[in-house]
Parts: sequence; C-alpha cells; structure tokens
Amino acid sequence: MRCYVVREEDGAFSRGVEDYEPFARESADLHVRVEYSGVNYKDALVASPSSRVRRVPVLVGGVDAAGVVITSSDPGIAEGTPVCVHGGDLGVGRDGGFAPQVYAPPRLVSVLPASISTRDAMVIGTAGFTAMASVLALEEHGLEPGAEVLVTGATGGVGSLAVAFLHARDYQPVASTGSPQESAWLYERGATRVIGRDDIADRPDRVLASERWAGAIDCVGGETLHHILRSLRYGAGVAASGLVASPDLNTNVYPFITRAVALLGIDAVETSARTRAEVWRQLGEVATRVDFAGLIDSTITLEGLDEALEMIRSGKTRGRIVVDPSED
Ligand SMILES: NC(=O)c1ccc[n+]([C@@H]2O[C@H](COP(=O)([O-])OP(=O)(O)OC[C@H]3O[C@@H](n4cnc5c(N)ncnc54)[C@H](OP(=O)(O)O)[C@@H]3O)[C@@H](O)[C@H]2O)c1
Repeated sequence: MRCYVVREEDGAFSRGVEDYEPFARESADLHVRVEYSGVNYKDALVASPSSRVRRVPVLVGGVDAAGVVITSSDPGIAEGTPVCVHGGDLGVGRDGGFAPQVYAPPRLVSVLPASISTRDAMVIGTAGFTAMASVLALEEHGLEPGAEVLVTGATGGVGSLAVAFLHARDYQPVASTGSPQESAWLYERGATRVIGRDDIADRPDRVLASERWAGAIDCVGGETLHHILRSLRYGAGVAASGLVASPDLNTNVYPFITRAVALLGIDAVETSARTRAEVWRQLGEVATRVDFAGLIDSTITLEGLDEALEMIRSGKTRGRIVVDPSED
C-alpha cells in the first residue's frame, strides 16, 4: 500500500511515498484503518537526516492517526470502533499514521468520544491532546474560569488548540505570536488579546517582572519560558510542553521561592492510561463548543507531506494540517 516512508540506511537518507507494508510489532497490536492523520512538529524532526528523535532506520512517519478498528485483541475495543492512535513510539520507532493502515498496542489506542469524528480527532491530534493536558494541569494547580492565561506559539498546533480550549472553558486566552498577520484568525479562535512574541519580556532589567499571568501554556521553551516564569502571578503555574525556540532554560529560583510559581511538565508520549482517558473525556466534553474546521490549515494527501513537514519545521503553519492517506 502507499505509505510515507522515512529511510536512512548506509548513510543515505530519503523520504517520500512508496509501496510499503506496515506490520504489527507485537501479537496484541490492534489493526486500524486510517481515515486521517495529522502533521506535528515532531514528524518534521523524525523525517530529517540524522534525526535524534527517530529510533529506527526505516519507518512510516506520522505520530498520530484516527480511524476504525479492523481487528482487535482488546475486549474493550470492538472491531468497527472509531479510535485515535498516538503516543509511545508511534511514528518514531514503529510504523505510524502516514499510511492507509496502522498497527498499535492497546495502550496507544483511545476510543473516540461520540462527539468527535475521526477527522476532528486529527484536527486535535497529539497537539490538541497536549493542549488539553496543559489546561487540565493548570486547573489541577488551581486555575479558575475567567482568568487570563498566556498561550505562546499561538498560531501553531498546540498553541491554537490551547486558545480554542481555554475559550471554550471560559478562560481569557492571551495569544502570543510571532505571526501578527494572523491576529484576526486568533481572535476568531477565541483569543481575548493578541500580543507579540517580544511582549512577554517585561522589565528585563529586573530579577522579577510584573505579576501578569494567572496561568500559561508554553510550547516554545528557551527565553520565552524564562520570561513566563518571572511574570506569573503569585502561586500560578506554567504548563510547558515544547522547545520550538530552544530546549535550554536559563533562569533563577526567585519566581519559585518568592512567588511560589510552578513549572508543570506536560508529556503526551508516555502519559498514564488514567490521564490519557481523562484528556479524551474532556476533549469529548468540549468538542461541541469548538470550531474544529476553523483550526485546519489545510487537508493534504501523502504527496503533500514533503512540503507540509518543511512548513511546520519553519513555523509557517496556522493551526493543524490534516492528512488524508486514502488510496482512492
Ligand atoms: N511534550 C509533549 O508531549 C509534546 C506534544 C506535542 C508537541 N510538543 C512540542 O510542542 C512544540 C509545538 O508543537 P506543534 O506541533 O504545536 O508545532 P507548530 O504547529 O509548529 O507550532 C509551533 C509554533 O511556535 C511558534 N514558533 C515557531 N518557531 C518559533 C521560535 N523560533 N521562537 C518562538 N516561537 C516560535 C510559531 O507560532 P507563532 O508564529 O504564533 O509564534 C509556531 O507556529 C514542539 O516543540 C513539539 O515538539 C510536545
């Protein structure tokens, strides 16, 4: 079948659509017909030469997929059930979602809530799962509706879904973006204010900045995360999931010991079964209040992946790119 395959063998790198048969790694793997996949920043890292993220020399890319179960070893997931597959080593160390079919162990398969179609599941994808996990982590830390919450990288996958989910849960998302031309689009997604990337660097000459944010969702890392920490309100938290600017964090302990702020790490890859189920339950609950169609950058076929991966790598996407891998 036609799949998007990444190869690096004997020093030669290639990626593209080819005839390939994805295979089950374990006897318990569920077999799923893929209706949609999505493009994530991590996919671009996997599909790069000498990738430090990819764990095998040859695989089908795609860290997430949504579709219908063909065969199941799990008594809790019947054949014909609409599911989302993501996390673990999918698309990183085993064949992923850029294919008409995928195999995955039950722990990577979530039954979709009735309110979420397979297409909307891939508008959400790993990025939206991470965004909702971030919202829930902030709520667990004490965030209450009505609060102003900063979202960085706001036009990206994690960022735009975070804006939409915060809006749907009655928060006031403040969207920080390096793409000011997308301000109107961010207001349509639910932002109450749009600010520039540099606007979060308040009072850089002081140890601490003004107390501005009741919470923050950050997928940018580096200097951005440093500035967020020093401008959180007393007792507030930042949910940190990404590193598009930098994996480094040069900061000091003052925000922690004088304002009792919290750095909440978010991981969508090895998240517990309990958290995974709760995030999908909450996504199902919020789905009727989110305009998923408005969050789609474009819908592409496997042939469009080369370009899409370059776009996401260079931060030029807006919302989510959905992939239709069907062979028709
Ligand atoms: N922890 C986890 O389990 C997990 C799960 C999913 C994603 N992630 C991570 O989260 C990050 C975002 O993923 P994504 O799929 O949402 O990517 P994405 O769609 O490319 O979004 C990233 C956004 O960040 C902004 N940006 C890009 N380059 C930047 C730079 N140099 N400095 C500051 N901002 C920059 C851009 O938004 P603006 O133009 O609006 O500023 C861009 O759209 C990645 O690092 C990814 O690996 C982690």
